[in-house]
Amino acid sequence: MAKTITEEQINRQKSFIIKLKEENQRFAAHNGRTRLALTETYGCQQNENDTERIRGMLRDAGFEFTDDSKAADVVIYNTCAVRENAEQKVFGRLGILKHIKETRPEMVIGVCGCMVQQEHIAEKIKSVHNHVDLVFGTHALYRMPELLYEAMHRKSTVIDITSSDGEIAEDMPIMRDNARKAWVSIMYGCNNFCSYCIVPYVRGRERSRTPEAILKEVRELVESGCTEISLLGQNVNSYGKDLDTEIDFADLIRMVNDIDGVERIRFMSSHPKDLSDKLIKAMKECGKVCKQLHLPFQAGSDKILQQMNRKYTKEQYLEKIEKVKREIPGISLSTDVIVGFPTETNEDFEETLDVLKRVEFDNIFSFIYSRREGTPAAKLDFVLTDEEIHKNFNRLLEVQNEISKRKNEAYVGRIERILVDGESKNDTNILSGRCDSSKIVNFKGDKSLIGKYIDVKITEAHTWSLNGEIQ
Ligand code: SAM
Ligand code: SF4
Ligand code: F3S
Repeated sequence: MAKTITEEQINRQKSFIIKLKEENQRFAAHNGRTRLALTETYGCQQNENDTERIRGMLRDAGFEFTDDSKAADVVIYNTCAVRENAEQKVFGRLGILKHIKETRPEMVIGVCGCMVQQEHIAEKIKSVHNHVDLVFGTHALYRMPELLYEAMHRKSTVIDITSSDGEIAEDMPIMRDNARKAWVSIMYGCNNFCSYCIVPYVRGRERSRTPEAILKEVRELVESGCTEISLLGQNVNSYGKDLDTEIDFADLIRMVNDIDGVERIRFMSSHPKDLSDKLIKAMKECGKVCKQLHLPFQAGSDKILQQMNRKYTKEQYLEKIEKVKREIPGISLSTDVIVGFPTETNEDFEETLDVLKRVEFDNIFSFIYSRREGTPAAKLDFVLTDEEIHKNFNRLLEVQNEISKRKNEAYVGRIERILVDGESKNDTNILSGRCDSSKIVNFKGDKSLIGKYIDVKITEAHTWSLNGEIQ
């Protein structure tokens, strides 16, 4: 069972939050303004959830928030290491901050998360970006108040990228982005070591929160008005394996389903090898679990799947999908796909297209393979050229776009229950929300509907969204 960070350690951080708050109050009295913090998140929902914790600690320490890096007193970038472009973006941003810091040397710049959990990146920041004051990895997140306090009082860079076999910090402050929908991390880390993936190296081993801690968080969320809960983990299907109590993910979703006030339950991600009949049954029987499943298959060729260390074959994947479709008719399916794994040939890629055509996912998240230092796949030589890989990637999108549009067209005429998120990104006169299967639905309506569930009749389908009218 994972070690829980002791109450003493959490209290120590709370004492640093108070120290920061006192300093911020003195600053405000002296300067006639409150210190401002800016946070930016790269990467997955797990990182977004971590940033909510970072913002909770900053808020409790008396900071207000800004989106303007020129005005910020503290900037924290919560980074991702999963692909090279995520890292390049952060280095680009740090370059811009360097110029700002030249005019405002008191600004504190922090970089945290998965990218800096890698030693070579922390070294690079120390040597090339020495205007960065604070570097802390995923395992040191809960120590941010102490580290930030040090960074504000020290000239040299404060670094904490010590790795850990697995610890869990409970009872940290949190400032959530959305009042109605919340991420709830049920476990951290990953044990799967897919050969291309950096996550197990930067997030550590799988460790589950206790059901008591998770259910307490969900109940508190409901009390605060939240109705949609998304349970998070790199592989939620192995939830509970490391706990002393006999419990698995299917048991957990039944427990969340029993909580009054929860209206919708979503979860991600699931590894196909661990998708059990018990979980499918629980999904089918729990009325609040959305009829939606994200099941990454990554590649269609058995040879590539084996080299990826995914532990299933194409046929086994397709069988699981068939079972899910049979048990939960109309379920909406999504997946992750990697194009251009080093040893992938054009024939292998055809197998990936074949899976897309046979399953007919509602949508996919597709990525061009990115070499990650320290992973086994980084040692493999490429068969295809960059040009060939991009050509395959574009073909993949073409095939999927046609399927997504067709899947969306089947919604026209249906009445869907929507949780209204806010104004549409493209038009402030239009509201936007998500239906049970998580498709985006845009419709005309009054802003007072934000945060409410309403029935919308779908009138038009696009590739990425639906339009509708309030019923
Ligand atoms: N644990 C989840 C899973 O296995 O489904 C999510 C893992 S990762 C955060 C999200 C996706 O990034 C993966 O499913 C994979 O498609 C993609 N990915 C991971 N490593 C990659 C790499 N080196 N290059 C390109 N895509 C990658
Ligand atoms: Fe990465 Fe595989 Fe773990 Fe997902 S299951 S985080 S792809 S190693
Ligand atoms: Fe990126 Fe870390 Fe998530 S590497 S995808 S932010 S777990």
